[in-house]
Amino acid sequence: MKVDGKDMRPIWFDLTSKTVQVIDQRALPHKLIIKNLNTVDDTIYAIKEMVVRGAPLIGATGAFGVYISLVQKDNKGADNEYLVSECKRLKNARPTAMNLFWGVDRVLSAALQHEPYEKRVKAALDEALAITEEEAINCRKIGEYGMPIIEGISRKKNGEPVNILTHCNAGWLACIEYGTATAPIYTAFDNNINVHVWVDETRPLNQGSRLTAWELGKYGVNHTIITDNAGGHIMQHGMVDLVIVGTDRTTRAGDAANKIGTYLKALAAKDNDIPFYVALPSSTFDWDITDGIADIPIEERDPDEIRYVQGLFNGKIEKMLVPPLDSNAANHAFDVTPARLITGFITEKGVCRANQQDIMSLFPDKKK
Ligand code: MRU
Repeated sequence: MKVDGKDMRPIWFDLTSKTVQVIDQRALPHKLIIKNLNTVDDTIYAIKEMVVRGAPLIGATGAFGVYISLVQKDNKGADNEYLVSECKRLKNARPTAMNLFWGVDRVLSAALQHEPYEKRVKAALDEALAITEEEAINCRKIGEYGMPIIEGISRKKNGEPVNILTHCNAGWLACIEYGTATAPIYTAFDNNINVHVWVDETRPLNQGSRLTAWELGKYGVNHTIITDNAGGHIMQHGMVDLVIVGTDRTTRAGDAANKIGTYLKALAAKDNDIPFYVALPSSTFDWDITDGIADIPIEERDPDEIRYVQGLFNGKIEKMLVPPLDSNAANHAFDVTPARLITGFITEKGVCRANQQDIMSLFPDKKK
């Protein structure tokens, strides 16, 4: 996607320096900082501390991490045990997004097919690059399949703006290109459909107000930031036509984990008869589980993320304490929206309802 006229992705392989580079999303929207990932420790730090974040991007970063483990200083060449243990460390960086395990395992198995070290390195890099290209294409397809949903509402409203609410950042920064939840929005915008996006600020780390607002603004999409608690009110007053969110892990039966607060939006949407869609590439499905509430691990992050807010002050990015320092805080990072509250999934294979049978009809090779 373009940032001030320049094509950018949140992760790429720089051919000149032969390094994996990422945008440091912690500094956005105020500073555009690029970081190199030279070691597995750098990669784990980037995922844990959310230099990179968002399920498909975490998957791509983990995928490059396998390559990095093979070329970092002190690497142990084609030693299988070493490679598998570095992959284990990568997979432990964050627990909820399915894409991390999927990305790491895919590159690991490509690498293990080759014994000679050089071949192994090449196979790992090729597979990581293939993953990024595939995810970019998948997101473009999500945009193409999701766009008619917005177009239909636009037609019913005689071209009046379609008001879409989204939570967190499920845009190109969270993916490789286009995003998941934002892909249908960008495609609709490109097709001259009048859209307006309600952007949940998404406390505590404000992925909505920092990242989604930045992305949409750069693309020229009309948007308004709201507090996380405003959704119910604006839905009751007819100001939301459609909700589209991303997901970090979705079960084969259609329960979807996403950024904390998504479930409340789904409840409010149901109460107000507003369609609630979840957009995802197939890499985010966990094909082994059906009960999201019981089986999706929910990350608990540092309570200081709740205690402190970050922003620009006198030209510098600063953090400020909000509550009494000695008050307890609990930082549950995700919640699970049960399938019954989801109108449908928008995937690279098409749109389906949120139940096992319909999901399997799009992905027949995953039938048990
Ligand atoms: O904690 P984050 O910022 O990694 O959480 C990201 C989200 O919850 C996104 O909505 C999700 O990954 C879908 S991204 C396409």
